[in-house]
Amino acid sequence: MFISVSKVCLFFALIAQVHSAAKRRKKTYVELHSCDNSGIADEIASYDTVVKDIVDYVTKGPFKGKTYNDKRIDKMGFYTPVLLTLFIIITSEAKVVSKENVCPSLLGEDLMKEIASYEIVKNEIVNYVTRGEFKGKTYDELAKFVDTFGARLSGTAILEQSIDYMIQLTRDEDLNDIVTEELQVPHWTRGEEKITMLEPRVKDIALLGLGRSVSTPPEGITANVIVFNDFEELENAEEDEVKGKIVLFDPEFTTYGETVVYRTQSASKSAAKGAVASLVRSITPFSINSPHTGSQNYEDGVNKIPTAAISLEDADLIRRLVDRDINVKLNITMHSTFDTKTSRNTIIDLKGTRFPDKLVIVSGHIDSWDVGQGAMDDGGGLFVSWAAPVILKRLNLRPKRTVRSIFWTAEELGLVGAYDYEKQHRNESDNINFIMESDEGTFAPRGLAVAGSQKARCIIGEILKLFESINASTLVEDDSPGSDIAVIIRNGIPGASLHNANEKYFWFHHTEGDTMNVENPEELDLCAAFWTAVAYIIADISEDIPR
Ligand SMILES: *[C@@H]1O[C@H](CO)[C@@H](O)[C@H](O)[C@H]1NC(C)=O
Ligand SMILES: *[C@@H]1O[C@H](CO)[C@@H](O)[C@H](O)[C@H]1NC(C)=O
Ligand SMILES: *[C@@H]1O[C@H](CO)[C@@H](O)[C@H](O)[C@H]1NC(C)=O
Ligand SMILES: [Zn+2]
Repeated sequence: MFISVSKVCLFFALIAQVHSAAKRRKKTYVELHSCDNSGIADEIASYDTVVKDIVDYVTKGPFKGKTYNDKRIDKMGFYTPVLLTLFIIITSEAKVVSKENVCPSLLGEDLMKEIASYEIVKNEIVNYVTRGEFKGKTYDELAKFVDTFGARLSGTAILEQSIDYMIQLTRDEDLNDIVTEELQVPHWTRGEEKITMLEPRVKDIALLGLGRSVSTPPEGITANVIVFNDFEELENAEEDEVKGKIVLFDPEFTTYGETVVYRTQSASKSAAKGAVASLVRSITPFSINSPHTGSQNYEDGVNKIPTAAISLEDADLIRRLVDRDINVKLNITMHSTFDTKTSRNTIIDLKGTRFPDKLVIVSGHIDSWDVGQGAMDDGGGLFVSWAAPVILKRLNLRPKRTVRSIFWTAEELGLVGAYDYEKQHRNESDNINFIMESDEGTFAPRGLAVAGSQKARCIIGEILKLFESINASTLVEDDSPGSDIAVIIRNGIPGASLHNANEKYFWFHHTEGDTMNVENPEELDLCAAFWTAVAYIIADISEDIPR
């Protein structure tokens, strides 16, 4: 481990910060004169929040008193942050140098000036979409689409009709460079589903079967419930305790990524312990007794047991009963079918003027769950990605590289369209300059969650500065943004997901509540304008986005 002068300075400065954050009387241990010229004052200041967070967590938060016995809490309230601070310094070489300092030298003055010069075209696009002729169009077209087709489950005829409709809608805009690529997709259909609590009292439990779930026998499965909070509890349970039971997992929603494993893996893990069915508390922070469906996978070699999501309210009821040692008996009846059908990815190109082989991709998925209307997931992402080449065409803006819009099929049943595209186009993957996806809501845009090298992020960050006027200039560093595009980004291709004000996204996600009422015309306009302008600039600047 190389300890540079600036690290030594950073160390003392951070210790000083810990002192002052912990409100200790002594000011600092050291004078920092020798560090005055080390040029790291800004970096040190940027750690203020982190240091304060750590100190608060340890002295006032959940970690209070955890480290040591009562008398020494105060002392540990100081030394634990010191140790954690040391840890930050040792592990965060990259962060010590802030982006403000690195990007200008990586980009060079000419490229920064060039990016800044796109202010005019950015304004043209934003004005056209938010105040001009295109105002309200993204919402109106999305509403027409959603009202016509409703839910568009993988493998259904409705999904294929909705794909045909999008192709025609695009041709109507005089964009004719459209191809579709066929692939086999899962076709899982939900039949009748019912859960009745039989003991300690009779009550209907709202449920949604999870994707690919098998059916119960016609007479249903009647069994007692055992509740686990996490996989560790299941692992630690005796096989006798679990055998013949219905397992309910009731994890508290933290983040989607962290909590969703209980939806995707519970059936297999419960079956391995002899459970006859598995239920999961819906993956959401909020509920009005709404179950949230989603995909799940049966691992090879385990018994396939029926599996469903129930509402937060019913999961919490069952948990309270079980905690009072009251036996909960359920009768679960579920029917479903499963086969394979043909579907299509849709690819629309607005060909580049100078480098038509080089691609800047915008994308969203056209399929949806069978509940709700797929207006938010992913109708919004589909329509802002449709809008990008349409708006550029209407404004007669032709970038140097090709802007490609992709409507992925069968995302919900496991990114099936994206995997197929990646395979079919692997020999051309060098041509992908940048790939974008919107599948986490089209609420007010805030910026992009970006994967890529330092320089790639610097270029995107510089472009995002142009969007301060619409509050969409935040760059979130994310090594695996998006859902479908993650399949391509993991091969080292730079890309980004739309970062938006989606705090309520998981309230509606995969429920009957995913309807047009979630969408907002002004926010969709801002997303469409942002998406289009970002894609145009990346496709037109003189430098490729580096790997
Ligand atoms: C469970 O529900 C099914 C379907 O409603 C019903 O046919 C069956 O009799 C029920 N079983 C019990 C034990 O109540
Ligand atoms: C990649 O493979 C496809 C299908 O095999 C072919 O049509 C295409 O020309 C190939 N592209 C390159 C750049 O080799
Ligand atoms: C951007 O944020 C500012 C301050 O919160 C607000 O006044 C302004 O309306 C926002 N602009 C847009 C386009 O949302
Ligand atoms: Zn989605």
